[in-house]
Amino acid sequence: PEYKRPKKGPLKFQPIEPTTKDDLVLPKGYKYEVIAAYGDKINQKGDTFGYNNDFTLFFPYEDEKDRGLLWVNHEYISDLFVFGQTIKGGYSSEQIKTMLYNQGGSIIEVVKDRNGWKMDTESKYARRVTGLTPFALTGPAKGSKAVNGAEIVQGTFANCSGGKTLWNTVLSCEENYESTSKSANLDETHYGWVIEVDPFDPAYQVRKHTALGRFNHENTCMGLSKDNRVVVYMGDDKRDACVYKFISKNKYNQKDGKKNSKLLEEGTLYVANFGEGRWVALTIEAVQKAAKGNAELLKKFQTQADVVVNCHEAAILLGGTPTDRPEDLEISPFDGSIFIAHTNNSNHGNFHGHITRFFEKDNDHGSMEFQFAIFAAGGIQSGFSAPDNLLFDEDGNLWTVTDISSGSVNTKIWEPFGNNGLFVIPTEGKNEGEAFQFASAPVQAELTGPCFTPDEKALFLSIQHPGEETDDLANPTSKWPHRSGDKMPRPAVVAITGFK
Ligand code: FEO
Ligand code: CA
Ligand code: CA
Ligand code: CA
Repeated sequence: PEYKRPKKGPLKFQPIEPTTKDDLVLPKGYKYEVIAAYGDKINQKGDTFGYNNDFTLFFPYEDEKDRGLLWVNHEYISDLFVFGQTIKGGYSSEQIKTMLYNQGGSIIEVVKDRNGWKMDTESKYARRVTGLTPFALTGPAKGSKAVNGAEIVQGTFANCSGGKTLWNTVLSCEENYESTSKSANLDETHYGWVIEVDPFDPAYQVRKHTALGRFNHENTCMGLSKDNRVVVYMGDDKRDACVYKFISKNKYNQKDGKKNSKLLEEGTLYVANFGEGRWVALTIEAVQKAAKGNAELLKKFQTQADVVVNCHEAAILLGGTPTDRPEDLEISPFDGSIFIAHTNNSNHGNFHGHITRFFEKDNDHGSMEFQFAIFAAGGIQSGFSAPDNLLFDEDGNLWTVTDISSGSVNTKIWEPFGNNGLFVIPTEGKNEGEAFQFASAPVQAELTGPCFTPDEKALFLSIQHPGEETDDLANPTSKWPHRSGDKMPRPAVVAITGFK
């Protein structure tokens, strides 16, 4: 593949200092506009924007660069801010519907005007995909015993991050699906997948690709092997969980457009063995061999469907390396190396996390061997802790948001970091690996899902769970975005402008 060169040049902003201010604080010369906040109407039908927005992905119109669709994930809800109370002793059926409606994703239309970017609620595309929307399963688990025979399943939820396909659709990742499926009495084997949606086509059958495995999916990043197969890198965001990649059986053909989605239905799923620097294929044959006659394991693993449904267990059995909570993975557009945010792991004292840089043999995403290095380590020296979503800019900088949990920020070791932030880390040159703070989140919020417009003049960013430690509605710990008359905080997507 041909890689572009970073434009480089000096850092374009004056870094900010950590702060605990209840606002989205930006460097001098930058400003933000709220595009959509929880509860806002997104279309003429009256659909509303879900809770706890996360991943955002911009799809510009081909013929109009200042207009496009924005896919937004909605990860989970807050009982207090959605129902006005904490719920004890189970949800009512009405509350279950509300909980499921406010998760999943939103497709909103955005347009640039003189003041920046705003939502256009007249959009013919704006709609919701929720925990109530029917999804088709594809791949080895479809209709199998491992998913209790299901071919169509109810809804998507716990949507954390995601990625774009080469054919211009969105992949969105079901991460911590356990609590919602339990509270809503839904079959847990139906969740923990990567879903695909076409924002421009409301008639497109939304689907879950079981060939990509079932685990606590953070995001996807897609590339091509040297022989043109689709490769999808993925992390399982749990303590001591693994890094995966899927390689399609068949080859990518750009002319096939959205039909390339089929490539995600058949292929091989691999887990990374960091100790040996190799990818291990997760096949039923390999799992059965590794089970060495263990009757319980042989009962559990009878088909490839059992392997994808019980992915983590199969991965560990075959030598997959447990790692420190792999969050986003991104392929560098400049050299093809893969960056992995290992957010932290309290199980063995990795309190601030690190970013791993991963080199496939011969720089081929289809390779079975790799090397890796620690690219940047969290801590007071670098100034960031708990890296999560990653994004490249055209200058070769890696942008990372941080996810220090709200329960931790007042603990001594996290005190110097202030609120969560957004950092810019050069990937080459004299400042390689150094972090410069670009934004600071409102109180108890996490910044998630950063996404540039193609000209990098605007950055979409999710402000997730502001004020999440509130226990008294009359005294919320944050009131961001401080709308007049609004007494509670609202997760919202903003557009930041001021980029030169
Ligand atoms: Fe929902 Fe792994 O962050
Ligand atoms: Ca995340
Ligand atoms: Ca996180
Ligand atoms: Ca989060």
